[in-house]
Amino acid sequence: MLVTDAGLAKLPITATAVGLLKEAGLPVAVFSDVQSNPVESNVEAGIAAFRKGNHDGVIAFGGGSGLDTGKVIAFMAGQTRPLWDFEDIGDWWTRADADTIAPIVAVPTTAGTGSEVGRAGVITQAATHTKKVIFHPKMMPRMVICDPELTAGMPPSITMGTGMDALAHCFEAYCAPSYHPMAEGIAVEGTRLIFANLPKAVANGKDLEARAHMMSAAAMGAVAFQKGLGAIHALSHPVGALYNTHHGTTNGVFMPYVLVFNRAAIEPKIARLAGFLGITGGFDGFLKAVLDLRKQIGVPHALGGLGVDRAKVETIVEMSLVDPTAGGNPVPLTKEGSRKIFDAALSGDVAAAA
Ligand SMILES: NC(=O)c1ccc[n+]([C@@H]2O[C@H](COP(=O)([O-])OP(=O)(O)OC[C@H]3O[C@@H](n4cnc5c(N)ncnc54)[C@H](O)[C@@H]3O)[C@@H](O)[C@H]2O)c1
Ligand SMILES: [Fe+2]
Repeated sequence: MLVTDAGLAKLPITATAVGLLKEAGLPVAVFSDVQSNPVESNVEAGIAAFRKGNHDGVIAFGGGSGLDTGKVIAFMAGQTRPLWDFEDIGDWWTRADADTIAPIVAVPTTAGTGSEVGRAGVITQAATHTKKVIFHPKMMPRMVICDPELTAGMPPSITMGTGMDALAHCFEAYCAPSYHPMAEGIAVEGTRLIFANLPKAVANGKDLEARAHMMSAAAMGAVAFQKGLGAIHALSHPVGALYNTHHGTTNGVFMPYVLVFNRAAIEPKIARLAGFLGITGGFDGFLKAVLDLRKQIGVPHALGGLGVDRAKVETIVEMSLVDPTAGGNPVPLTKEGSRKIFDAALSGDVAAAA
């Protein structure tokens, strides 16, 4: 069963992929009842289709939404316990019957989430408007096909947003305080690839060299964030769940505010990163480079650009503190700290996050 989102299902790249499978003699059905920021009902409908069609594996085809939903369907199709029993908490994944998990082939069509090399899927729980991470080691795809041509048709706004997700993964993984020098090395090179190639991919979607580097950087970001994420994701998750904003674009908005908020804990580290990237001026030079990149590719500077106002600030702050990514922030995230970042991102005053 090929799982993709409803928008992608109508595009020629999906029809081509299905055509190639049929030509090769592989019977395939398409399941595309998947929305951006997928919800549990998408997963439930997919499980029903998988069982009814007697399928033996999933081709997860799409951006993070299609990939995550496909992976979670393959994981859940043979389970007897409910979805939320497998949230990424402690050893909850051991509750699963691992033998029933169907094999997954992942085919990314965006360059951002890196879900193709990850062991988790992000699904929004409708009752609580919360993005939950469903985890199992066997959710790791057996095979990944990274073909940059599949990303060539992404419009500039999605190229920008997904690219900022990859950058947020590299950046937050690099800054997370846990010890994992291998992940840091991957994050540093991923950051370089993104600074060098994201503006090119946004300006000319058909630049396959830039697209290929972005696809690598997306996978690298997801490998690196095994080390941890931080306040960008902790705030972006509730905003995405409550306002249905695009995940990566939301990360792009929060990035400079979180960078400034964390300054005291990461300044020497960021100076080292700036040196590697050929950016002069240490921490301040890096901050300017982030602001310039956002401007160049069209990331909204403040939350208003995403249609987010202060109506739900207290809920967002509360949710950010219990988000599983909050623990990786270099400066421990408190209620006051989270509110400070949110207020700064709302007003557009980067210095106010300090
Ligand atoms: N599993 C993980 O580790 C992980 C990490 C980060 C984010 N996520 C999740 O991934 C989701 C976001 O994924 P995303 O940023 O890739 O966006 P997406 O999958 O939601 O896609 C965004 C839009 O782009 C369209 N699209 C995708 N590929 C296209 C192409 N090649 N050409 C034209 N249009 C295309 C889609 O139809 C959709 O309308 C969120 O739910 C987020 O929480 C998961
Ligand atoms: Fe992300």
